[in-house]
Amino acid sequence: MKHIAIVGGCGHVGFPLGLALAQKLGNYTYGGGGHVDLVDINADVINSINSGQVPFQEDGAQEILSQALASKALHASNDMSLVRQAQAVIFVTGTPVDEHLNPRIKDVINVIKLYLPYMNPEQLIILRSTIYPGVFRVIDNMLTKAFGTSPKLAFCPERIVQGKGVQEIFTLPQIVSANSPEALHEAEELFSHIAPKIIHLEPEEAELAKLLTNSWRYLEFAIANQFYMMVEEKGYDFYKILSALSEDYPRAKHFAKAGFAAGPCLFKDTMQLSAFYNNKFFLGQAGMLVNEGLPDFVVSQLEARMGGSLKDKKIAILGMAFKPNNDDTRESLSFKLRKNLEFRMADVLIHDPYLDTLSLDEVLAQAEGVILGVPHDEYLGLKITVPFVDCWNVWRKEN
Ligand SMILES: NC(=O)c1ccc[n+]([C@@H]2O[C@H](COP(=O)([O-])OP(=O)(O)OC[C@H]3O[C@@H](n4cnc5c(N)ncnc54)[C@H](O)[C@@H]3O)[C@@H](O)[C@H]2O)c1
Repeated sequence: MKHIAIVGGCGHVGFPLGLALAQKLGNYTYGGGGHVDLVDINADVINSINSGQVPFQEDGAQEILSQALASKALHASNDMSLVRQAQAVIFVTGTPVDEHLNPRIKDVINVIKLYLPYMNPEQLIILRSTIYPGVFRVIDNMLTKAFGTSPKLAFCPERIVQGKGVQEIFTLPQIVSANSPEALHEAEELFSHIAPKIIHLEPEEAELAKLLTNSWRYLEFAIANQFYMMVEEKGYDFYKILSALSEDYPRAKHFAKAGFAAGPCLFKDTMQLSAFYNNKFFLGQAGMLVNEGLPDFVVSQLEARMGGSLKDKKIAILGMAFKPNNDDTRESLSFKLRKNLEFRMADVLIHDPYLDTLSLDEVLAQAEGVILGVPHDEYLGLKITVPFVDCWNVWRKEN
């Protein structure tokens, strides 16, 4: 397969996938003259990619991007008609939940409808977004009606961890599912260039596999967060106990630390799974209450450490991204933390090395209290001299 179009190709999943495919199918390594078009609507990111700048934190992306552009194996564009020339069209736009926590199924369907005038039944169409179970069949039905024949449709979910996609894509097994043996074979052939192993599932099973994975991770964090709040509220030191219970004890090796479980995927995928199970996914809903309740808990902890009121106190949040050493602030709980502090009439200062904020020295010089929002490397080893809360446990030794 020589020509691939990725719709949503400039996003956090589309871009690393595009780089990986361009590297393997493009001129300079594969010798095959393959080409990847990243089709997107975000003009800033399109320009950034075409001028050789990695648009967001993505480890190892710079070198591959430079090579891919130099060899003309990769191009970003808002020209929807580029999809027409592609042998494989990969859709990887967002799949959020709405304000009532129901999946916005129409989002992904509407994007495909937009591109229908440029698509044909000879193309392999791959869904790569995380989709609600059953969406594959709905899209299959819609494309069958539009084409007058069955499409070659596959669902191949992305499972990378954000920011390390370029490295992980080449190491993770790829789950491949499709509506026909032909589509399955073609999708397998394409992903065999970048994935070390292919695993087959039926489309509904693959949809569930991705949601189960993300919900399980979300719940791991929820357990740690619930334990943290329970133990600290009763006046004990959670990390002292965690350290003791896990020392040389193999069954506690993967016990998660507490921390803000946020970002664009884990929460919404747990809610998608909950909607799928008619809102009877009690563990998922309880996990949501726990994880979403942590910001309020840490603000209360700081309040108690500062004499019972934060009114007019200068409180710093260090780290606004949703995960360490990353520039992505989507669905970050640091913003919920900020709202909570503001509601208690604190004077909030924020710092994040990836955002345009006051410098760390300026913020720390003014702060009367500090909350660690996310443990970026810049914050490790800081000596904090005012009351603070660090639910991640990176400062305790220093302080
Ligand atoms: N971020 C992750 O680490 C991750 C990992 C695995 C799976 N996923 C899933 O992948 C999907 C995409 O997530 P993401 O984080 O890459 O989102 P994103 O917002 O970073 O990327 C989506 C891209 O789609 C583009 N877009 C929107 N409408 C478009 C249109 N009509 N035509 C062309 N482009 C359009 C946006 O401009 C954006 O660049 C979601 O379903 C998500 O759950 C994300």
